[in-house]
Amino acid sequence: ARIVVLVSGSGTNLQALLDAIAADPEGYGAQVRIVAVGADRGGIAGLERAERAGVPTFVCRVKDHASRDEWDRALAEATAAYEPDLVVSAGFMKIVGKEFLARFGGRTVNTHPALLPSFPGAHGVRDALAYGAKVTGCTVHFVDDGVDTGPIIAQGVVEVLDTDDEAALHERIKEVERTLLVDVVGRLARHGYRIEGRKVHVGE
Ligand code: GRF
Repeated sequence: ARIVVLVSGSGTNLQALLDAIAADPEGYGAQVRIVAVGADRGGIAGLERAERAGVPTFVCRVKDHASRDEWDRALAEATAAYEPDLVVSAGFMKIVGKEFLARFGGRTVNTHPALLPSFPGAHGVRDALAYGAKVTGCTVHFVDDGVDTGPIIAQGVVEVLDTDDEAALHERIKEVERTLLVDVVGRLARHGYRIEGRKVHVGE
């Protein structure tokens, strides 16, 4: 499958995908082809990781567009240019809009650092900690028009420790998240999938 990955930050989830491809070029790498990495900002480690791996990049900034809708259209255009079968939002900190969803809805996957439907939004780790949750984790799901509300593909559980602060907990979640994302993207690419309401059937 041709895959466009969208990032906004450090890009360690992207790196996990790139590493899985490099480690198994004939197997995983033959199924999962990252054809481009897009970002909503420049100067981030995520883009450097892509460049180091020889993957084309593009940047689409909200402030370079007259409106949020125009930005969304530009992001959709830039993504479409690489003809992806799947889009992976891996730490992409923007909500995509109507046009993007019209073109890539049902084939855009997001990873979120909490066990949805608990703690959606930009501060999933902080919110779980503040709530006093004893377990949290990560969720890989399809993107729909809500915030972290789309059909769930897979989840990983992480225990919250008494000693945790946001950074420590997020780091442990990200370890689980990277493995989960590599696995999910591999399975979607290898076996195909069907979304039926809120149920995701992989390889049936
Ligand atoms: C991940 O935990 C993702 O779920 C969250 O931001 C983090 C991105 O990390 N929204 P990275 O950029 O892949 O290192």
